[in-house]
Amino acid sequence: MEPRDIDGDLTEILIEEEAIRDRLAELCRRIEADYAGKDLLLVGVLKGAVMVMADLARELKHPIAMDWMAVSSYGSGTQSSGVVRILKDLDTDLHGRNVLIVEDIIDSGLTLSWLLANLKSREPESVEICALLRKPDAARVDIDVKYLGFDIPNQFVVGYGLDYDEKYRNLRSVGVLAPHIYA
Ligand code: XMP
Ligand code: MG
Repeated sequence: MEPRDIDGDLTEILIEEEAIRDRLAELCRRIEADYAGKDLLLVGVLKGAVMVMADLARELKHPIAMDWMAVSSYGSGTQSSGVVRILKDLDTDLHGRNVLIVEDIIDSGLTLSWLLANLKSREPESVEICALLRKPDAARVDIDVKYLGFDIPNQFVVGYGLDYDEKYRNLRSVGVLAPHIYA
């Protein structure tokens, strides 16, 4: 199969690369101020958060630490069930650390709500959340996101780390997948 141009598979670009970069820079200035003089551990959630983690981390002027977790929501299809399984755990002991969870997207919020409780049980000094995207209309639990990139409509989006069937993560912007791709 010939590789196609990604843009033909989208109905709409929701957030351009430049807007993501500018917004992440704003969030980084706030993070630097909030964590001045403190240690900071960024915890990225694989695989979707890879791009936001890479750009956020490099924009930060502090020497931060990074670690990764992979989780999977039980249940089928595109619906999160809230029952989460750890596929890859952290290498880092969180005891006494300032943790900032870095996520691609908050949809129902169930995954992050579970993750938050899980990490808090490891007795860190603090845990906060940074998420690039949030779908307010899909929320099933209330999540306190300290650093949020953008609120978006309740549509399935891809790009900038987000995938459909493991593809489109490499798209530089965030876009809405065309319905003919699902069919
Ligand atoms: P919940 O519902 O638990 O889900 O907040 C969060 C996880 O579900 C994935 N997700 C998406 N992935 N486009 C994607 O490519 C989307 O629009 C989307 N919505 C949710 C994602 O892995 C997220 O961490
Ligand atoms: Mg994710």
